Amino acid sequence: MTPTPTPVPETSVSPTAVPPVAAPDTVVTTIFPAAPRTKALYDLSGVTRTYRRGPHDITPLDGVDLTLEAGEFVTIQGPTGGGKSTLLQLLGALDRPTAGTIRFGDVDLSSASDAQLTKVRSTRIGFVFQQFNLIPTLTAHENVDVALESRGLSRADRRERVGEALRKVGLADRAGHRQGELSGGQQQRVAIARAIVASPEVLLADEPTGNLDEAMRDEILDLLQQLNADGLTIVAVTHDSAVATRADRRLRLDGGKVHVDAS
Ligand SMILES: Nc1ncnc2c1ncn2[C@@H]1O[C@H](COP(=O)(O)OP(=O)(O)OP(=O)(O)O)[C@@H](O)[C@H]1O
Ligand SMILES: [Mg+2]
Repeated sequence: MTPTPTPVPETSVSPTAVPPVAAPDTVVTTIFPAAPRTKALYDLSGVTRTYRRGPHDITPLDGVDLTLEAGEFVTIQGPTGGGKSTLLQLLGALDRPTAGTIRFGDVDLSSASDAQLTKVRSTRIGFVFQQFNLIPTLTAHENVDVALESRGLSRADRRERVGEALRKVGLADRAGHRQGELSGGQQQRVAIARAIVASPEVLLADEPTGNLDEAMRDEILDLLQQLNADGLTIVAVTHDSAVATRADRRLRLDGGKVHVDAS
């Protein structure tokens, strides 16, 4: 299997994705499955990833022990080449560790079959990348809708879900715009809408603001914080301490291990 992140992970909609009906005076903001904060979402034990490159092995992850709780907003910082993207790919079921175990809810990602990993990726995990990875010929609505392909959903259901995702990221009025007609921040909002449209349990973000100026970065961080407040677990790897200041918990990946960031 390839460790390269897929630009548009397949996704599907679980029955819990349907928002509850609101009492007249109740505002329901969450579209994410209820995530009890007490149960660990991820449990990593002794996770090691070695890449064989010619005569030299590279081991960016060397016995990582880490627990991530549902509902957390966690950032992971660390030096370039330190293994942040490698770790995110393992959390995202895009790759398997060379040694150690990764439990994601009730699934052991380290020993799961390819088919199981594909299902986990497609139903429970959303991805966001620095480069947005939108399809330039498609509108914002169509780019988000791509994530609902092959779901067997009715057109009306898809339209409603895409509309809700675009509303959540504040782009309801840009649904018909193509990439070239959107600012960088708006493009990343579309990518986030695509990542959340199937109501995943976790959003994994690799340098989500790396291509944005400060103002747009802050807008995206506000949005991520709002999504987290709505119940979405977020794990973001970043070079930018401004991103880390928004987190519940700041971690550092250095020397192949994850540490609590004391800075
Ligand atoms: N598929 C691969 N094959 C071989 N080596 C790899 C592969 N992917 C990553 N590496 C190596 O593993 C190390 C960690 O890479 P990784 O991309 O995880 O670092 P990073 O912390 O995300 O870096 P950056 O901050 O620059 O994005 C690097 O030395 C990299 O060259
Ligand atoms: Mg990286």
